[in-house]
Amino acid sequence: MKIVRFMVAMLSVAAITGCCDSNDKKCGDAVFLNEKAVMETIMTRRSIRDYKDEPVCREAMAEVLKCGIYAPSALNQQPWAIRVVDSKEFLDGVTAIAVAQNPKIAEQPNFRNFFRNAPTVAFIACPIESYSGEFDCGLLSENMMLSAWSKGIGSCCLGSVVPVMNSPEAKPYLERLQLPADYKLQVAIAFGYPATDLLPVAPERDETKAYYID
Ligand SMILES: Cc1cc2nc3c(=O)[nH]c(=O)nc-3n(C[C@H](O)[C@H](O)[C@H](O)COP(=O)(O)O)c2cc1C
Repeated sequence: MKIVRFMVAMLSVAAITGCCDSNDKKCGDAVFLNEKAVMETIMTRRSIRDYKDEPVCREAMAEVLKCGIYAPSALNQQPWAIRVVDSKEFLDGVTAIAVAQNPKIAEQPNFRNFFRNAPTVAFIACPIESYSGEFDCGLLSENMMLSAWSKGIGSCCLGSVVPVMNSPEAKPYLERLQLPADYKLQVAIAFGYPATDLLPVAPERDETKAYYID
């Protein structure tokens, strides 16, 4: 049944692209019509560190979550737990704890909350003991951030949230996430509509890190 579904999907793609014979394809030819859109989304995504107050609409977030869980995972174990919070009371509560622990963070320009002012935050957790949980959560996270960006929703991975959430003061908030007992919080991801239209410049990438071995 799964194979039939796959074949139907591939035939549909071929019908859309007019491509049936792989011999006709040139190196890098698009399989999907929206290849450019995918690459543009990847290349223009930046970590957004200031957002409008308006939480991400839940319908859009549902699609972002769906794209997340369609990420690959080892043996399709899907070893993640994702909790989305758009409660101002929750985010402000964690912010108060973070500021009490490190008052300097509140000195950042435009500071409103500890989540880079995001009104919606996804908390991503994976099993404490897992062969590939962290890796799989990384793939899930990137799927979420890219699909969000394709809808104009900005995002920022926030590793700095983890030690605060794991601190004794934040225990009530960690408990509210209802993570399975054998899971650890891996990362938080800020989501929201960027506060300005001006996108950050991409921090430099070192392209010498990837090359062919002949
Ligand atoms: C695992 C992880 C943790 C991160 N933690 C933070 C963080 O705590 N605060 C922050 O502002 N950015 C954080 N970032 C964002 C990185 O700083 C950012 O991705 C990097 O500088 C590249 O910039 P770009 O995302 O705009 O391409 C984190 C990114 C990753 C992947």
